[in-house]
Amino acid sequence: MEEQADDLRELMNSDFSDAISTESGNAADSNHKTRIIAITSGKGGVGKTNVAVNMAIAYAQLGKKVILIDGDLGMANVNVLLNVVPQFNLMHVINKKKTMKEIILDTEFGIKFIAGANGFSKIANLSVEELGYFAKQFSTLGNADIIIIDTGAGIANNVLQFVAAADEVYVVTTPEPTAITDAYGIIKIITTEIVDRSVNLKLLVNRVHSADEGKRISDRIITIVGQFLGYKVDYIGFVYDDPVVQASVIRQKPFIVVNPTAKPSVCLKHIVGRIEKTDTSGNDGVSNFLKKFLSKKSK
Ligand SMILES: Nc1ncnc2c1ncn2[C@@H]1O[C@H](COP(=O)(O)OP(=O)(O)O)[C@@H](O)[C@H]1O
Ligand SMILES: [Mg+2]
Repeated sequence: MEEQADDLRELMNSDFSDAISTESGNAADSNHKTRIIAITSGKGGVGKTNVAVNMAIAYAQLGKKVILIDGDLGMANVNVLLNVVPQFNLMHVINKKKTMKEIILDTEFGIKFIAGANGFSKIANLSVEELGYFAKQFSTLGNADIIIIDTGAGIANNVLQFVAAADEVYVVTTPEPTAITDAYGIIKIITTEIVDRSVNLKLLVNRVHSADEGKRISDRIITIVGQFLGYKVDYIGFVYDDPVVQASVIRQKPFIVVNPTAKPSVCLKHIVGRIEKTDTSGNDGVSNFLKKFLSKKSK
């Protein structure tokens, strides 16, 4: 056990930026900091996957290299929204059957996509040697400008380790009272059990009928989080409730592509613009993401 812990420490201290620069063939790229965003919620069905997919595409439309990772174990919805059928997923990398490069899918929407399947849950049980392979593979994603991870809802999900290691965590809620309560619940878990105090938490209110409604809901959550958890959460914006979302799900074409001027599309572009303007100096890039990820594992 002791030996295992030593090996893990050694792994944590290794320089993953090597793999990043080798992959890109450009040594200068090892300084490149990939922004890693996890999208989560307390309650399921609040729109995480739709936000993650369309936000990813909006980023790509700004000329950024975007990788979207489906971390929702229960239902792999990203495939459905993008209308792709991945042959391989993270599980194949974890089992050393494939390299990361082999499982990344190009999509017609300008983003790259990695299917998570049940891969995430297995990470908890990997040996140090297996973790080493996975970490090295993961670090090759360091060429991306941004990695967006769509996580499952609630505390029972296995991706909280990824939430803990991400630079920024976006909590999605709707105006529904149960969604609000559950948003508070997940923020409480993230801030008290999962990560240290430095996590950068942002709130996104989906399915609103007015800008005022979004602001009101976020004010309420931000106030109680401040009051009871002593934690600062920022409001990143709202997305209108609009039938275009469901229609695009049915057509399996992201609404930001099919209806770029629809209200939810405009909202997401605003949000991406706002995110782009926020300071990223606290962002750690892929190699530090892995270190944080592995340090959770060693506890
Ligand atoms: N802004 C919105 N306007 C209208 N319907 C929405 C909106 N966001 C989500 N929905 C509906 O909610 C469903 C669930 O969204 P989804 O992104 O799969 O949620 P989650 O990933 O949180 O489980 C969608 O299929 C759509 O019908
Ligand atoms: Mg989902």
